[in-house]
Amino acid sequence: MAHLTQESIDREIRPQFSRVLGSHVGSAYFANHSLGRPLDVSFANIARGANAWAELLDEAWSDETWLGEAMKFRSLIAQLLSVSDPTSIVPKSSAGQGLRAVLNSFMVDKVIHVVATRGEFDSADFILKAYAEAGRVDIRWVEPGRQEGPVWVYDASDVLAAIDDTTDLVAVSAVMFGTGQILGDLELIVDKAHRHGALVLVDTYHALGVFPFSMPAVGADFCVGGCYKYLRGGPGACFLAIAPHILAAGRKTLDTGWFAKKDTFSYLRPDSAERGEGGDAWLESTPPVLVPYQATPGLEFTLGVGVQQIRNYMSEVLADLRETFLRADLPIFVPQNAVIWGSFALVPHVSATELSRRLKEFKVVTDARRDFVRFGPDLLTTHDEIEQAASALRKLL
Ligand SMILES: Cc1ncc(COP(=O)(O)O)c(C=O)c1O
Repeated sequence: MAHLTQESIDREIRPQFSRVLGSHVGSAYFANHSLGRPLDVSFANIARGANAWAELLDEAWSDETWLGEAMKFRSLIAQLLSVSDPTSIVPKSSAGQGLRAVLNSFMVDKVIHVVATRGEFDSADFILKAYAEAGRVDIRWVEPGRQEGPVWVYDASDVLAAIDDTTDLVAVSAVMFGTGQILGDLELIVDKAHRHGALVLVDTYHALGVFPFSMPAVGADFCVGGCYKYLRGGPGACFLAIAPHILAAGRKTLDTGWFAKKDTFSYLRPDSAERGEGGDAWLESTPPVLVPYQATPGLEFTLGVGVQQIRNYMSEVLADLRETFLRADLPIFVPQNAVIWGSFALVPHVSATELSRRLKEFKVVTDARRDFVRFGPDLLTTHDEIEQAASALRKLL
């Protein structure tokens, strides 16, 4: 799609979201960085998958229906990551499940030395701590190095400094979930990690669909992410992407099941656990079948509009939001360089959770993390909704 404007969005994009927009008239939705809004076609697509259950019964496990939609999901995620082999995308129901599959690809008698930032999402943070408590992981936490205004910022140089010969795995987010900061210099992190014999897992949850992200350009060994937010695919549609050199080396995980078997549907039971080709070797047991139907329309939409176009337009919307709040004398974090921040804005407040709750009374939907209310507009956000939010904040502050 060409350059996005308010007019082209009203004409071509807004009608594709009539169901969710019609259900929330008068409401200003700024939680798109949390739960993205669904396309109308998503519901017809889910029905297509569900109907196959009744109409085809066991034959719904075919390349035209359930297995086909799962492969389509893998292929669309591969396109977004600029990865050529769709089978290197392993569907997961959470990003955390992807992290566990990677942790469970290390030898069980080994303590895995992990470098991670304190800014990883709760899921990764909790899983790493649980593995540490079980003696499976030893974590070197990277703290935020400096403050930009009210926001604690991470420096890639601190991640680099934490990597040494003891490191087995570096697990970092491309964009910090709490603040929207883009970590940057991922290729340098990968380069140093590889020189020290370590692997790198990048959490792309707040990056994919926000700005162009190329897994091969970064050189990451693994990426995890999901469709809940910017990709408009709802919960459960997540993935683990595995780099070709990891697959070629025959790396295996204990997070496995019979869909990882060579010739799954031949029902052979050799004495050894013989696995399928490429990323199929990392599949697990019987997968959820409707989840790909839920997620593919949002992925097609994102690729159809174009991630760079989305980024350009959202930068304008975020600038409008920040300027409108500043004009209204409201507190808002204005980054020195907006290019290194993701797709939501931060309003600092000591009782951010309470402020976010009270904004709902004015039909302004946000969420809060620590000392910030997060405002995540999307393509459907209008200037009037930004004014609605500013006016509500003025009354509350
Ligand atoms: C950076 C990041 N990673 C992962 C997740 C989700 O993790 P999981 O799928 O394990 O629940 C989120 C959700 O907000 C996130 O912001």
